[in-house]
Amino acid sequence: MVISREPVAAPRPFELERDPLSPNRNLTPLTTALDAEGALSVGGCALRDLARNYGTPLYVLDEATLRGTCRAYREALAAHYPGEALAIYASKANSSLALTALVAGEGLGLDAVSAGELLTALQGGMPAERIVLHGNNKSREELALAAGCGVTVVIDNWRDLELLAELAPGLVESGRAPVRLMLRFTPGIECHTHEYIRTGHLDSKFGFDPDQLEAVLRHLVGCPWARLTGLHAHIGSQIFELQPHRDLAGVMADALSLARSLGHPVSDLNVGGGLGIRYIASDDPPSIESWVRTVAEAVAAACQERGLDLPRLLCEPGRSLVATAGVTVYEVGSRKDIPGLRTYLSVDGGMSDNPRPITYQSQYTAVLADRPTAEATETVTVAGKHCESGDVLLKDVALPPATSGDLLVVFATGAYNASMGSNYNRIPRPAAVLVHEGLADLVQRREQPEDLLRYDVLPERLRSVG
Ligand code: LLP
Repeated sequence: MVISREPVAAPRPFELERDPLSPNRNLTPLTTALDAEGALSVGGCALRDLARNYGTPLYVLDEATLRGTCRAYREALAAHYPGEALAIYASKANSSLALTALVAGEGLGLDAVSAGELLTALQGGMPAERIVLHGNNKSREELALAAGCGVTVVIDNWRDLELLAELAPGLVESGRAPVRLMLRFTPGIECHTHEYIRTGHLDSKFGFDPDQLEAVLRHLVGCPWARLTGLHAHIGSQIFELQPHRDLAGVMADALSLARSLGHPVSDLNVGGGLGIRYIASDDPPSIESWVRTVAEAVAAACQERGLDLPRLLCEPGRSLVATAGVTVYEVGSRKDIPGLRTYLSVDGGMSDNPRPITYQSQYTAVLADRPTAEATETVTVAGKHCESGDVLLKDVALPPATSGDLLVVFATGAYNASMGSNYNRIPRPAAVLVHEGLADLVQRREQPEDLLRYDVLPERLRSVG
């Protein structure tokens, strides 16, 4: 396949110029290109070929973009923070063995929030000492698994401490104590993002209330099985403002000062994630570089003002590491024209592979794979195939005329799509491929209808009905 990087004829419904240093500000993966026929390719692979080989809907992940975002965080931290620093991938954005292995290889750490994510991280080759376990309601089993293999546990509430204290004798006996702990508290910082993905304001289920901070820190002084090595706060997700992150630095430095004054050897300050990405042309998030610079300078300054030795700076990006690397390819099926009202184009996936539009009214950008630069002369609504009127992926978007069999490509689906997917209507989950320099590797097999029956049990007494 010939890939042309030449400029293409206007009008272009999506950008091909892009900033390699700041993938989260682009709409499309870094390697997006048009082939000789003007059709779309990512990672050197024609999307039509991928659809033919792997079926649709198909998640396509671009390795160059993934590595580019990892590098952007790593290099910005090295350039702007005077101390040690580590970016930790928030794997809730997209958890798989392949992504784990890739970010581990890029030198990042990983944030897991369940036994499932933790297992994926460990089996994907992430060193336990670079993993943190989050969660506002961790089970005894999750805590035992994490503490037992040397993962840092982020204590979120008193229940975590009660359960860990119960596990402590066993951990001491097996040489797994002291357990490395990080303490999460609610920083009381408001930011402008969807209400469901705001976590830093006081009315949040996550973390200790700031009023409790001193009591927890004092309690931990009397826990010989524990070693408090870090503090954590996270203010929310898909945030475009920088000021809340600056404010957070001061709040965290105060907490650091208090923790150290009580004798805790706190070396890590984890400021969470939250940097937004561009889903539609009008989105204008800061670059990874400027986000990191802001956070790094604010933390360094806040520590200096308080006379504190610089902690290691941790941050936990999820969306901005993986979203832009991903596109989803669907096949267009039915079309319904309601004169004077709306045209519905239905695709072969929907809210089960991308629940974000129905959950957060999120907007996306889409083009046709075979003629991405064709003039968009129609306004259509792209609907999914689920039995739910709200199952709409894109509302009133401009597209070239499309008919059944056309492939529709939705950009920026690498984060919180696969990981939040479901089997609603017993629709199997899509396959995922990782593309790089013309090669495609299957990283998630397509679920089969039989897989959906795997855990069904038909009781004997119902079998002979009829
Ligand atoms: N750290 C913690 C403790 C978090 O709770 C989160 C996200 C992150 C890091 C990563 O945040 P990011 O860099 O991805 O913004 N499902 C929603 C997003 C939920 C985010 C939950 N926590 C969505 O699809 O928009």
